Amino acid sequence: MADKLRVGVIGCGEISSNHVLGYLNSERYEIIALADLSEDAMKDFDAKYSGYDDYKAKHFTDAHEMLDKSKLDVVSVGVWDMGHAPMTIAAAATPGVKAVLCEKPMSDTTGNAADMMLVCRRNNVKLAISHQRRFLPAYNLAKDMIAAGDIGAPRLITTFARDGLPNYSSHLADMYRYILGDPECVWVMGGVERETDQWARAVPIEDKALGVWGFDNGAQAMILSGLTPESSFGARIYGSDGMIELSVDDLKIMNTTSGGWQEHKPDGEFAKYGADNFEMIEAGSVQAREFARWVNGEIEDYRGVAENGYKALEMVHAVYESARTHSQVYLPLKTKSHPLTEMIDSGHLPVLYPGRYDIRNRTLRGENTTLDTKNV
Ligand SMILES: NC(=O)c1ccc[n+]([C@@H]2O[C@H](COP(=O)([O-])OP(=O)(O)OC[C@H]3O[C@@H](n4cnc5c(N)ncnc54)[C@H](O)[C@@H]3O)[C@@H](O)[C@H]2O)c1
Repeated sequence: MADKLRVGVIGCGEISSNHVLGYLNSERYEIIALADLSEDAMKDFDAKYSGYDDYKAKHFTDAHEMLDKSKLDVVSVGVWDMGHAPMTIAAAATPGVKAVLCEKPMSDTTGNAADMMLVCRRNNVKLAISHQRRFLPAYNLAKDMIAAGDIGAPRLITTFARDGLPNYSSHLADMYRYILGDPECVWVMGGVERETDQWARAVPIEDKALGVWGFDNGAQAMILSGLTPESSFGARIYGSDGMIELSVDDLKIMNTTSGGWQEHKPDGEFAKYGADNFEMIEAGSVQAREFARWVNGEIEDYRGVAENGYKALEMVHAVYESARTHSQVYLPLKTKSHPLTEMIDSGHLPVLYPGRYDIRNRTLRGENTTLDTKNV
């Protein structure tokens, strides 16, 4: 087996911690360096992971200094959305870096996301976006059942979400494509309501959204976001001859031969069904193992490749664009900025209940992180 990959992490918050756990569980990496504006954030990582032999992290309060000094193979980008493009581009421009695993949504705009892919391609750096649920056993089972024709031709996927489309539902957009075998999304129609001045990690979000996506295999997917109390990374999948109810942990299927609902509760490879935090441990660890194989050239195709991350971002931004233009939007999306921001700035979506608030400020540690984009 190839030498362990040397990892540096930019932004040591909630989700990067899961990257680190995945890297360590997969036994294919050494954690060499951490960069965060907050020393306390990095100390928290030490407290969690210093018991692992492969955890040897030096601390940097400047990500660029970490990149220059650490001889890294792999960089994890786990800062807020607006930092994804500048940090990914800085990592890709660092000699020796082979690959970047960047968090979702891929960026704050599709224009910046396209730049990330361009710079990585030009520097021969592999770029992946962490829609980690592609690596869940229940998602894989649903994908396999649909491919085998167990529910006939897939017709409609329904989902329930909250907290802003790019923030929450880029995961769902990615899930639709994954379980359907990665068809292309052809068109999008949607509407949004934004009466409060709500933001998620310094990006404005809507209060409510309704969206429908049409795929080139004839299937459609639908989302109700903020419209009902229900939300999950599961789905109801209706086919011509049956249906699947999918959750992040398990699924049940009913079709012409099942004699009612049939339940499936697959174990993971890194965690047993029902274990605490099964979903995150399993998805993060399988993602890390497959990412190492891809980075080392052991496999050609990788599930979380940047092009899929881009398409998920494009699909959710197209709901905003449909609301902005009052039309059915055909992909590829021509607008490369953030269409919700365009609507806010043009007065198309006036706030009825003033007072800016950010649903993710609970993770901030001090005044220097207020915008989370300092020094990017
Ligand atoms: N894949 C998932 O399931 C999932 C889950 C949560 C968050 N996310 C995504 O991950 C990203 C981070 O979210 P989070 O909730 O983990 O954030 P967080 O607030 O918990 O962590 C972000 C960290 O980045 C640090 N930081 C800010 N600016 C920096 C800079 N210039 N240099 C170095 N460090 C800097 C902050 O100090 C903080 O510790 C977001 O884009 C979010 O959408 C993905």
